[in-house]
Amino acid sequence: MEEILLRQPDDWHAHLRIGNLMENVINLFDVYGRVVCMGNLADPVDTAKKALAYRKQISAMGNFLPIIGVMLTKNSTVEEWEKIIKLLGKSAFMKYMPEGITTNSEFGIPWTELENFSRIFELAQDKKIPVLIHAENNRNFLSSKEIAEIDREKEAVVFIEELALAFPDLIINIEHVSTRTMVGLIKNYKNLSGSISPNHLFHCYKSVFDDHGEIINVHKYFKPVAKNENDREAVIAAALSGNPKFFFGSDSAPHLKIDKEVFKRAGAFNALTNLAYLCEAFVERGAIDKFEPFVSEYGARRYGFHLNTEVIRLKRQNWEVPTVYRGIVPDLAGREMRWRIVE
Ligand code: DOR
Ligand code: ZN
Repeated sequence: MEEILLRQPDDWHAHLRIGNLMENVINLFDVYGRVVCMGNLADPVDTAKKALAYRKQISAMGNFLPIIGVMLTKNSTVEEWEKIIKLLGKSAFMKYMPEGITTNSEFGIPWTELENFSRIFELAQDKKIPVLIHAENNRNFLSSKEIAEIDREKEAVVFIEELALAFPDLIINIEHVSTRTMVGLIKNYKNLSGSISPNHLFHCYKSVFDDHGEIINVHKYFKPVAKNENDREAVIAAALSGNPKFFFGSDSAPHLKIDKEVFKRAGAFNALTNLAYLCEAFVERGAIDKFEPFVSEYGARRYGFHLNTEVIRLKRQNWEVPTVYRGIVPDLAGREMRWRIVE
């Protein structure tokens, strides 16, 4: 196979940042029809005013439809969310990151306090606003002991089940699914779906951490962390399965090289390679018929959007991923890729 024509895909989870960093990466997203742009900025996008301003900045530079992942924070109120829904309509999704779990999540609500925000979830359920969940828990709420990074996703299961049972018609999406346990949970609840990042298809725990849990390769450090082979296989199987509950969200998360190397910021910048890598993964496992639905259909259907009508082209061509791209070390730096997006 030398060429693949693909219905234009959507990226249902990306970090575009602001300022120079955004300017340096945003054009890579023009290949998509829609992009969910996460609002976990240092000053979190958690009001209608901030969401409108962020959407405007993105629209001025990007050639795709931005959907803002508006953050659910300790400052969130039902009144503000009514405003967000009224002013942004289908271009606002609700993003939940538990407090302190990852980059810029200081204002997040702890899992154990989520019940105080149930009126907001009721509103989201009524208005069919997708709720995107960063499903990790870093603290045992009984012993208050810190939970190891590799176990954090499965330790969030109890909270996800509570939410899924309390709001049976809520559109709940588990972001960047990384474990067999979570794949199984999603299959079991009709109101759950899951997005999958190429990060969790390609990388494994041992290439990021040593035997003591110390980071040995900061450029492969992202959250949820890469898991072991058993989990990785389950995530690959879910992506390739043709089950419409699982679809693409890149979780491309750029940090400047220096911020990664000095401050060990979590996040992999995969916007340069994600479609090429996925194409390779689907082709090599004999599942090319499942590629287009995974990147271009299931997510749109899940969130109530029409399918994109344009077509993009991928060509069988080797190219090497640069070691640095505009001050950022890309995911898969130095690797030879087998497919290239051609305009
Ligand atoms: O690795 C990550 N980076 N995981 C997240 O959840 C956030 C992201 C970021 O914003 O850098
Ligand atoms: Zn993310």
